[in-house]
Amino acid sequence: MINPLRGMKDLIFEDSQKFVHIVTTAIKISKNYGYSYIEIPILEETALFKRSVGESSDIVGKEMYQFQDKGDNDVCMRPEGTAGIVRAFISNKLDRQDSTFRFYYYGPMFRYERPQKGRLRSFHQFGCESFGEASVYEDFMIICMIKDIFNALDINFALKINSLGCKDCMPPYRVKLVSFLSDIKDELCEDCKRRIDINPIRVLDCKIERCQSMLCNSPKLIDNLCEVCDSDFEKLKSLLDSVNIEYECDTNLVRGLDYYNKTAFEFISSEIGSQSAIAGGGRYDRLVEFLDGKSTPAIGFAIGIERIMDLVQLPQAKREGFYLGSMNEKGIENLCAISLNLVKNNKVTLEYKVKSLKSHLKSADKIGAKIIIFIGDDELANETLWIKDLETKEEKIIRIDELEFS
Ligand code: HAM
Repeated sequence: MINPLRGMKDLIFEDSQKFVHIVTTAIKISKNYGYSYIEIPILEETALFKRSVGESSDIVGKEMYQFQDKGDNDVCMRPEGTAGIVRAFISNKLDRQDSTFRFYYYGPMFRYERPQKGRLRSFHQFGCESFGEASVYEDFMIICMIKDIFNALDINFALKINSLGCKDCMPPYRVKLVSFLSDIKDELCEDCKRRIDINPIRVLDCKIERCQSMLCNSPKLIDNLCEVCDSDFEKLKSLLDSVNIEYECDTNLVRGLDYYNKTAFEFISSEIGSQSAIAGGGRYDRLVEFLDGKSTPAIGFAIGIERIMDLVQLPQAKREGFYLGSMNEKGIENLCAISLNLVKNNKVTLEYKVKSLKSHLKSADKIGAKIIIFIGDDELANETLWIKDLETKEEKIIRIDELEFS
């Protein structure tokens, strides 16, 4: 027997219903916020992710599903959606139009991580990316949209925010941080030691307690922001306050992808164990230019669909559609013609097996049909149909030619 690969799973029955419920809820809300659908390839040139997510990130350094294709191209299964959407934004020359573009997407992402609860190698994200809007109001609206999605799905969350500064305030801060880290280098874990030179900011979110205790007195970016970044961050906080969205400012929230600047955020659930981030995102104002497009401010987020599946309750299933069954072969033939008319506008289940009424009623109930249409021996002889509404329990017998299709 061939099983799915480690860290990959099939979504069927309740899981696939939850998947559809999550995605349709998120689509409805993101459309209301002005986002339209974008679909892009899962496979991209490896260079795209190296240049955007960053060579020093764990995702690119350790977790890529990367291979040479038959044409000897170095390709990679997307580990996340943003890089590909930015590539598509530039490929389609949208960076040349002085306009705002907002896209939503969903689909599988691939990261060769060590699998555990909430951490898969093939998982799904629902994400949104907004291009062309530098205003902090866009950051605020995006956070409100995610809040609306989680509220609609009845999911509790805590919000963490931070500002990662910009090209003016980040470099001098980095120098200060490296100087601080170099002094405590011997006390840090091997990963942190390595990161001091290649990506010192990432040291701040090391999960090892000893490293965290050493970082208590590290210089904080929040105290080193330039005037513009500082006032935008203050504005974001006051906007969130104004609509009573609670948040925590986490100066160590740096995100695991290198493209971010200014606003960064994560939505956390306390109900799903250690892999608690249910959504993450932020600004990436320099990425379009970095991938050879015309400089365009941008911001986005992605929700981890599998991570919220355990938190989501499916809405109460309503009875729906028609079940058609007969006690005799000829009856099935008649019901077949009726089914073809009904199926144009309704969910239809036609049972091909000859069975008793009792047995058909049981099957109709099991699949949640609203209406059962049955042909027994009497109905066949009289050219009639026995119809029961399984919700209201109303029953009637009508002539076949009296059946109205809607
Ligand atoms: P990310 O934080 O790497 O951001 O992923 C977003 C969400 O995907 C996480 O919060 C988590 O819920 C889910 N996720 C990540 N890795 C796994 C995994 N191995 N198994 C299950 N779920 C996982 C991004 O991917 C950015 N592209 C988000 C973004 C969009 N930033 C700007 N625009």
